[in-house]
Amino acid sequence: MENKKERSTFGGSLGFILAAAGSAVGLGNIWRFPYLAAKDGGGLFLLCYLILALTFGFALLTSEIAIGRKTRQSPLTAYKKLSEKWGWIGILACVVPVIILPYYCVIGGWILRYLADFLTGNAASTIEASHFTGFITAQWSPILWFVVFLAATVFVVYKGVNNGIERLSTVLMPILVLLIIGISVFSLTLSHTDAAGVTRTGLQGLKVYLIPNFEGMTFSKLLKVIIDAMSQLFYSISVAMGIMVAYGSYVKKEVNLVKSVNRIEFFDTLVAFLAGLMIIPAVFTFQGHEGLAASGPSLMFISLPQVFDAMGTIGPVIGILFFLMVTFAALTSSVSLTEAVVASFMDKFHWERKKSTIITAVLSLALGLLVCLGYNVLYFDFTLPNGQVGQVLDVMDYISNYVLMPIVAIATCILIGWVTGPKTIIDEVTLGGVKFSREKLYTAMVKFITPAILLLLLMQSFGIIK
Ligand code: PHE
Repeated sequence: MENKKERSTFGGSLGFILAAAGSAVGLGNIWRFPYLAAKDGGGLFLLCYLILALTFGFALLTSEIAIGRKTRQSPLTAYKKLSEKWGWIGILACVVPVIILPYYCVIGGWILRYLADFLTGNAASTIEASHFTGFITAQWSPILWFVVFLAATVFVVYKGVNNGIERLSTVLMPILVLLIIGISVFSLTLSHTDAAGVTRTGLQGLKVYLIPNFEGMTFSKLLKVIIDAMSQLFYSISVAMGIMVAYGSYVKKEVNLVKSVNRIEFFDTLVAFLAGLMIIPAVFTFQGHEGLAASGPSLMFISLPQVFDAMGTIGPVIGILFFLMVTFAALTSSVSLTEAVVASFMDKFHWERKKSTIITAVLSLALGLLVCLGYNVLYFDFTLPNGQVGQVLDVMDYISNYVLMPIVAIATCILIGWVTGPKTIIDEVTLGGVKFSREKLYTAMVKFITPAILLLLLMQSFGIIK
């Protein structure tokens, strides 16, 4: 447990990079990135994503980590330290993980349930869509699995920055990469002939993924590809939810932030890319182009179990490895959400880690129950301003991801770009003579381009642009 007066720090830059990458690598990398890539013209999407990661993502990530390290505070109090007037950003940045954590853990519970199904030899029972809907609408089972996932998350955070978060990430992240590489290689070797006599292979699926498809491309479609890549990247690097500020506050002054940001982004993009390599060839082989239209829960809990089933005897083994990998990805992300909240309470109210963790857990438990009940007792069909229809989980997701996060990120850019000036961040980044070769790019991004991009995303959330 950490000393009361001295702030904990990550043991080394590797621990920090893996913890931050652990946060960034999450469900989005697995169930949304491959889908968008397949939908948005393969290599074209990948190219847009890469360019945005090196510009837009780099500016946001650098800003948040530097804010944390400079102020040595977690989000709730960090922004106030930069400017009294702009302290409210910290409140919003802390509300975001408070909202996301409960439903992220509910989904974590769904993953655990599927892992358990595969481990106990019940893989075959998961192939019907009704298995999934039956499970999430059941009264007790989703609550139980949610509580297990939340308890695991809370336990890690309770153990502290070094013994909990850093240790977990340094063990799980390398295993995650090995698993995902292993499954991808397997996926590429697949071949299947369907009932109509059509044979499709993993390598054909690889082409769908990698080769840019300009067929029927119009300017407005290209714009859509770019907006998809922006929104995916924005969610994927875990900014605007206080996490990177909290983790940044544990980074030692001698750590090179430029290199760290590059490595975190590299890791996150690599895993997203590998997820595509794993999922697209497999889905394409067994379900063709139609299968690639699924994303999110329906991809993970309906399409993929069908794909594993179609693989024959090896299917359940691949399923176990897959759900294990997803569990690791989700756990390191939920831990980071929890830490953003726990650290905020610790800094703001001067609570001990134990008290802060317990209060965060109770709060998440209460909100998570609402999410679970949203599929039975509290079932409603909400129509959201962006046109989607959903339940409690989707409403919470909408408020946090589509409304609050862009606002937090825009406000952060205005604060850094125009109130304190980019020098605040540049000074922190170049501490100890570190070379910041993209300094000019950073300034332009944070002042003009990043807030403009975010404004587009916010307009999309409100349904102003489609
Ligand atoms: N960045 C994660 C992803 O791509 C999402 C995430 C959400 C991470 C919430 C942490 C907290 O899936």
